[in-house]
Amino acid sequence: MRVVILGSGRGSNAEAILLAKQAGRLGRAEGVRIFSDQPDAGILALGPRFGVPATYLDPAPYKTKLDGEGETLYIDAIKASRADLIVLAGFMRVIKPRFLDTFAGKIINLHPSLLPSFPGLDAIGQAWRRGVKVAGCTVHYVTAEVDGGPIIDQTAVRIEPTDTLETFTAKVHAAEHALLPAVIARLSER
Ligand code: GAR
Repeated sequence: MRVVILGSGRGSNAEAILLAKQAGRLGRAEGVRIFSDQPDAGILALGPRFGVPATYLDPAPYKTKLDGEGETLYIDAIKASRADLIVLAGFMRVIKPRFLDTFAGKIINLHPSLLPSFPGLDAIGQAWRRGVKVAGCTVHYVTAEVDGGPIIDQTAVRIEPTDTLETFTAKVHAAEHALLPAVIARLSER
């Protein structure tokens, strides 16, 4: 199963995937490569570190969605990589129908809340401000409904009275770093 990771940020989840691959914990997943819509994103530095292709792809002309010329660029690059699974790991753009239809059933997303609670931006902050006692993270299939596709797996994280936003955030990220590689490994064995 060939895997493409799309990310916009520091890439800690892409790093977790690549560390799992190195440790032989990524099932039959292989040929991992990274594309980013941010030329300076930390995720691109993982390429040389892990010896995998990591490429900036210009998402223009839109700022918050992948559409038009940018969408075509991504579709062509992902097709050329013969990806079986597209992993959105902090890819902060709305995916539109042409992309979804091209890779139907092959796109998964990581979200830092127990969906359907707290979709959208700053999910960790939303959960913290709402005062929930159990939060977590979700991996789900991507559909046209933002953060709304079928849930594949989730990990719960308890918020203790001693937690601060910082310690809670760190717990959610640690849960993500375990959950996402485990889901990819499982999908690769099907
Ligand atoms: C992760 O916490 C992921 O759940 C979140 O972005 C972060 C990326 O971190 N994604 C979303 O909020 C998507 N709605 P990373 O760049 O260190 O992997």
